[in-house]
Amino acid sequence: MILLEKVSKYYPHDKVPALDEVSLHIAPKEFVFLVGKSGAGKSTLIKMLTREEKPDYGKIMVGGIDYDFMKKRQIPHLRRRIGVVFQDFKLLPNRTVYENVAFALEIVGVSNAEIKRTVPKVLDLVGLSGTEKKFPGELSGGQRQRVAIARSMARQPKILIADEPTGNLDPETSWGIVRLLEEINNFGTTILITTHDEQIVNQLRKRVITIRNGKMIGDQKNDGHYDLDAVRTRIVKRPLATARRTAPTADEIRRATNSRPIATPETTRPTPRRRVI
Ligand SMILES: Nc1ncnc2c1ncn2[C@@H]1O[C@H](COP(=O)(O)OP(=O)(O)OP(=O)(O)O)[C@@H](O)[C@H]1O
Ligand SMILES: [Mg+2]
Repeated sequence: MILLEKVSKYYPHDKVPALDEVSLHIAPKEFVFLVGKSGAGKSTLIKMLTREEKPDYGKIMVGGIDYDFMKKRQIPHLRRRIGVVFQDFKLLPNRTVYENVAFALEIVGVSNAEIKRTVPKVLDLVGLSGTEKKFPGELSGGQRQRVAIARSMARQPKILIADEPTGNLDPETSWGIVRLLEEINNFGTTILITTHDEQIVNQLRKRVITIRNGKMIGDQKNDGHYDLDAVRTRIVKRPLATARRTAPTADEIRRATNSRPIATPETTRPTPRRRVI
């Protein structure tokens, strides 16, 4: 679950905020496209979710974690729940394909035995079996993108966020990546992708969120289209019993999921024993 409530971000020297009171709710297992012109604020929104940047105003909750209560040392814990695929891949050039994926597990303390079991499975999932010993420089752009996806999937995150995963790829390779993300979504992972690829968005007809000058100007929940200026917001009729006009608030979600601000092994204390007289 991803929840933003009136999130604003101001960068110095910019006339308009990079994000201007953006509120949205993404439920578990959804597949969402985030679209908007260059400079609209897509990457900024993603950086809010990964905590690379902090908002100036507003509330963010991801997977039951309330960012207002998150301490710096808890950020790695958050990054285990969210897989991020960056547009420039951020692969380690001097490590092989196998090592790039294994490294993502090593740094979060996964055992060697578990790494040996997991890496081949994930590489198989993204269609890269056989390339284990190659270095990133020996791969095509599409293959590099697959390594980046494999690396973020290895920790089995509940949410996968990809900033322009098809940027710089030819149409056929782009479709391969999108189909892979659909497959990952079918396993139950929430997917949020930014893209400029009109064809892919219009063919897949998923939920499409549009931002312009930092403002969310469209949220087509079903059958979404790529339309950066005049967004058609489709209203989906649902039975009265389940319909609600607004996304749940952070408080409602916290109450429903009974989540504390953040519960990590470091912050969870054993319950005190009752004294027996
Ligand atoms: N680190 C930064 N410092 C100052 N301004 C920034 C910074 N990052 C982004 N901005 C500004 O915030 C606005 C939104 O940028 P952002 O990178 O989110 O756009 P985008 O929608 O991802 O664009 P693109 O499609 O080109 O990737 C832009 O006006 C940009 O100049
Ligand atoms: Mg961007």
